Formats: sequence, C-alpha cells, structure tokens
Amino acid sequence: MSDPKSGRNGELFLSARGLCREFGFGDRKTLAVNNVDFEFHRGEIISIVGESGSGKTTLAKMVLGLLKPTGGEIFFEGKPRDISTHRKRKLYWQNIQAIFQDPFSTYNIFNKVDLVLLDCIRLQGQGNLSKTEKFEKMKDACRFVNLKFEELSNKYPFELSGGQMQRLMIARIFMLRPKLLIADEPTSMIDACSRATILDMLLKLRDETTMTIVFITHDIGLAYYISDMVYIMEHGNIVEQGTADEAILHPKSDYTKRLLGDVPKIYDPWDFTSAAG
Ligand SMILES: Nc1ncnc2c1ncn2[C@@H]1O[C@H](COP(=O)(O)OP(=O)(O)O)[C@@H](O)[C@H]1O
Ligand SMILES: [Mg+2]
Repeated sequence: MSDPKSGRNGELFLSARGLCREFGFGDRKTLAVNNVDFEFHRGEIISIVGESGSGKTTLAKMVLGLLKPTGGEIFFEGKPRDISTHRKRKLYWQNIQAIFQDPFSTYNIFNKVDLVLLDCIRLQGQGNLSKTEKFEKMKDACRFVNLKFEELSNKYPFELSGGQMQRLMIARIFMLRPKLLIADEPTSMIDACSRATILDMLLKLRDETTMTIVFITHDIGLAYYISDMVYIMEHGNIVEQGTADEAILHPKSDYTKRLLGDVPKIYDPWDFTSAAG
C-alpha cells in the first residue's frame, strides 16, 4: 500500500491482534476495546479517532504497557511483546514516551523547567557531560520548539502557558528520541493557534527522527491534517482504517460519515481558527 503523504515504507514496528479490554463484571461489564487489530510502521503518524468513551485511551494504555489486555496480543518489533517482569517493562519503556491531554499533570510542579530538561539528559545516560554541553543540548531542544531557553529557565511549570507547556513536552521528546510517541489528545486543552503549532512540531519531529507517532483525537479534521494512517473507533471497535485519504476522503462506514458530517469544511484547506474542542 502506498501513501501519498509519507511514501509509507517503514518496517512494521508495533502491531496487535484481537486486542480486548473489559472493565467490570456481569451487567456492569464494559468492553472498552473489542477485538482490535492494528499495524504501526516505523516513521508513520497514525491517528486514532473517536468520540469520548470510544476506547482510545484504553487502547493507548495497553500499548504503553500501563494496562493489561484481557484478550489478544501485542507484537513489538516483530515479536510478541513481553513485559512480564519489571526489568522487561523498563526496557520496553525505553522505546516509548507519551504526551497527555493535560500538560500540567505531567510535570512535578515543584521542579523548575531546567530540571525537566536536565532529567532528559540524565535519562539518556549523559549525566556526566560538562555544564556547557548540557546547556547546549537544552538550548537546542528549546530551539526545536521555538522557545527561548532563557525565557523558560528558572521558571516553574505553572508559570508557563498551556501552549508553552506542550511545547516543552515536545522539547523533552526531541531530547529523548523514543521510537514511539503516543500523544493522547495533546491539543484539546490549548487554543487554536497553539494547536496548529503543536501539530506542525509533531510532523517536524517525525521527519527529523523517523519516530512513530500515535496521535489520539476526537477531531477528524486534525487527524486528516497530521496522519499517514487513520483508525476510527466506535464503542471499542475499529470501524474504519486506511490511509488518511482512504479513511477520511472515501469513508466506508456510516460512523465515519457521521463524524465527517460534523466537519463540513474537511475538503477545504484546514482552518485552525474554526477548529473547536
Ligand atoms: N478504569 C476503568 N474502569 C472502568 N471503566 C473504564 C475504565 N477506564 C475506561 N473505562 C470505560 O471504558 C470506555 C472507554 O474509555 P476510554 O478508553 O477512556 O475512552 P476515550 O479515551 O475514547 O474517551 C468508557 O466506557 C469508560 O467508561
Ligand atoms: Mg481518552
């Protein structure tokens, strides 16, 4: 399958067969994720689109290894994923980073921004670089997200705007270079202008690092803008999948058509100022 946007030729990176997750018992049982298959390739941006409660975050948590599937299997780099011990989980997590909806929940509010970035250097095993080298790395990461290190340094997370916080998150990702980034509604709490900037930075991140990015959103317009591949979820099921053009410009399922009905301007160049939510 060829993809008009990325030329999709990366090797298979992460996949799942028959992935399920139930919550509760008996009458109160919820099938949050129901028999889901996916294939994520290296360097691809994949969007998972669905309304609130469709199972997106549950799926993301299973991929992250934070929640156990109740059925099915995940394959990592071609082999069944094994995160059965603490050591194996730690190794798996070296490959993965996540950005969540609420940037403020991610940081320790008592740590200054400098420490957030210094921590990335330490996590990469470069804690013994000289002070100047560390500053250069931190400045470089800030430059990548168009922030001035001098403006951030010595500040606490709550002194930054939501948009600045999410950009700082991306600076972290730039430094850590995970193989997989899961961004769960990263733009839903920030203004439209910052949203466009964040999306463009995710694209730049993918282009400069060949990272695989899973972008989770309820906004099919944002998904079209950013993704190579799209999966549409309804009540725990994948009801549509394909390249962004296949799934969004030529949808087969009624559900996708209904979601598109909410975005009348999908065929026009995307207008971020009108993107609500
Ligand atoms: N820890 C949990 N316990 C019970 N039910 C849950 C839990 N987490 C999610 N669910 C249920 O699973 C379904 C999917 O939720 P979620 O994955 O958060 O959806 P989304 O991220 O698409 O909004 C919802 O019906 C939600 O109430
Ligand atoms: Mg969610």
